Amino acid sequence: MLDISAVETGYGKVKILRGINLHVPAGSIVALLGGNGTGKSTLLKAISGLLPTWAGQITFDGEPITSLPPNRIVQRGLVQVTQGKDSFPAMTVEENLHLGAFSRSDKAGIAEDLDKVYSYFPVLKERRRQLAATLSGGEVQMLVIGRGLMARPKLMMLDEPSAALAPRVVLEIFSIINRISRDDDITILLVEQNVRMALLLAAYGYVIRDGVIHLEGHAKDLIAGDQVRLAYLGGGTVADSGFGLH
Ligand SMILES: Nc1ncnc2c1ncn2[C@@H]1O[C@H](COP(=O)(O)OP(=O)(O)O)[C@@H](O)[C@H]1O
Ligand SMILES: [Mg+2]
Repeated sequence: MLDISAVETGYGKVKILRGINLHVPAGSIVALLGGNGTGKSTLLKAISGLLPTWAGQITFDGEPITSLPPNRIVQRGLVQVTQGKDSFPAMTVEENLHLGAFSRSDKAGIAEDLDKVYSYFPVLKERRRQLAATLSGGEVQMLVIGRGLMARPKLMMLDEPSAALAPRVVLEIFSIINRISRDDDITILLVEQNVRMALLLAAYGYVIRDGVIHLEGHAKDLIAGDQVRLAYLGGGTVADSGFGLH
């Protein structure tokens, strides 16, 4: 469904991605892993059209989308959920959710999707008239996922949905991501620092390092081997890794 081929991009004169190849089959959950500052968010920005692609091709649903404007990419059903900070704190929960449907005009469908978001996240329904500023970190993460769903995506890219959340909330968010994938048939590209959780959810994983895909494989093989830790660290000991693969 999403094919990234030899993609290069960066900021100013600084090249960050030096030829990324990545494939997300329809209906799957694919994990994109890598240490801090390796270019995961940069790749998502290039896919979403928020950052120009310098070289390479991005194909979505059989059509090239390289260098399309971001709103056109969203309209095609490819939606990025950024980290939770990107809610609008001075707007209510429900207003935030409606923003996700900005490119749609099907009122009945929008109402249906709002109900669906509230069924995934009952706490958002309880708080729908509260300002987003009053939500906890976990609730804000639910809000931005909900806002992504309001665009009725075919493929949703999630950028570190578990960042800075308590373990119990992480479990809740991950189980919802699983339900979204399974029940709504939404393909997921999941960017995570939480390697273990991401590989439990995903069928396939990619590890980015030094601007290229350094390692890829079926999630169960990546979990079983010690390769992910090695790919992150280029050596080092388990104790150094802090990724809890053991
Ligand atoms: N807006 C920006 N301008 C310049 N450099 C940036 C910008 N955003 C990110 N970078 C740099 O690009 C590299 C990759 O960043 P990023 O894609 O955010 O990494 P990750 O999401 O994997 O943590 C880092 O070295 C970071 O400092
Ligand atoms: Mg990032």
